[in-house]
Amino acid sequence: MARKVILDVDPGIDDAVALCMALSDPRLEVLAVTAVGGNCSPAQATRNVQAIIEELDPPRWPRLGAASAPDDGLPVDGRHLCGVDGLGGADFDVAELHHLHPSEKVICDQVRAAGEGAVTIITLGPLTNIARAFQRDPELPSLVGQVVMMGGSVTGSGNITPAAEFNIYCDPRCARAVFRSHSTKTLIPLDVTNRIVLSYDLLGRLPDQSTKVGRFLRKLLPPAFRNYRQQFGLEGIHVHDTVALTAVTHPELFTTEEMAGDVETSGELTTGMTIFDRRRVPAWRHNMEVAVDMRADQVIDAILRSLTGVGSG
Ligand code: RIB
Ligand code: CA
Repeated sequence: MARKVILDVDPGIDDAVALCMALSDPRLEVLAVTAVGGNCSPAQATRNVQAIIEELDPPRWPRLGAASAPDDGLPVDGRHLCGVDGLGGADFDVAELHHLHPSEKVICDQVRAAGEGAVTIITLGPLTNIARAFQRDPELPSLVGQVVMMGGSVTGSGNITPAAEFNIYCDPRCARAVFRSHSTKTLIPLDVTNRIVLSYDLLGRLPDQSTKVGRFLRKLLPPAFRNYRQQFGLEGIHVHDTVALTAVTHPELFTTEEMAGDVETSGELTTGMTIFDRRRVPAWRHNMEVAVDMRADQVIDAILRSLTGVGSG
């Protein structure tokens, strides 16, 4: 039985690559793809979700959700890595922009329809939609099977500030609300996702240009490699969101620890920082599993097998 999932995304090149993997993985039933602002504006994220689904045209289209701005607005975007349009200027056509329900409504409806414990929400962007869904339906945290979040940093530094990881930094108050909710949570932090770098030779191993996935990835990936070389002098790209997705499809490749985590929401230098009580005798109550290690070679292999069409990852 395929695992029912909702993907909450701020596409974002690595979000789009993760979506490409999820939509072609027989182990997953993608019930919905909900847009959230982050790498690009909420409106652009909503447009990008529609464009990605149209490009990949999966056998069964997921419900789509429209992003709306966080209460405090977006403090930053991901244009330095994803371009102004969020997809590296891939300029995918969108046949027609359908009127979509708000992402938080789609999340509530899909979790309710699937039944208690049936749905895994995989968040690959800021946590705005999840916090709003929990506000909209206070029973939702206990109805969701699991929330798997790409975000935060345990022992390392941030990536958008020295202290904060991008997804948390974009909406720290909503991230805190989700961290403090009674949902079953797993965090996939930069400590593990930074360890995966896909090298340039991936471009030579993509599915043929005649396939939808081949055309999609050949438009999407070259700008990502260019931006990483220009920004970081790196001959490869991080794919944080595909690592988080792999933690759902291949949990056996990851080691997690129970931790007590929270989010700084007001520090001049530390807003968006994820804090964990790892004292010998912690005072905070454990509230999530956190990925602390993984078999990186096998994670890369699973990602490459999925993207090159050799099996389902
Ligand atoms: O910090 C990495 C995360 O921020 C990824 O999800 C990337 O897409 C951006 O959203
Ligand atoms: Ca993302």
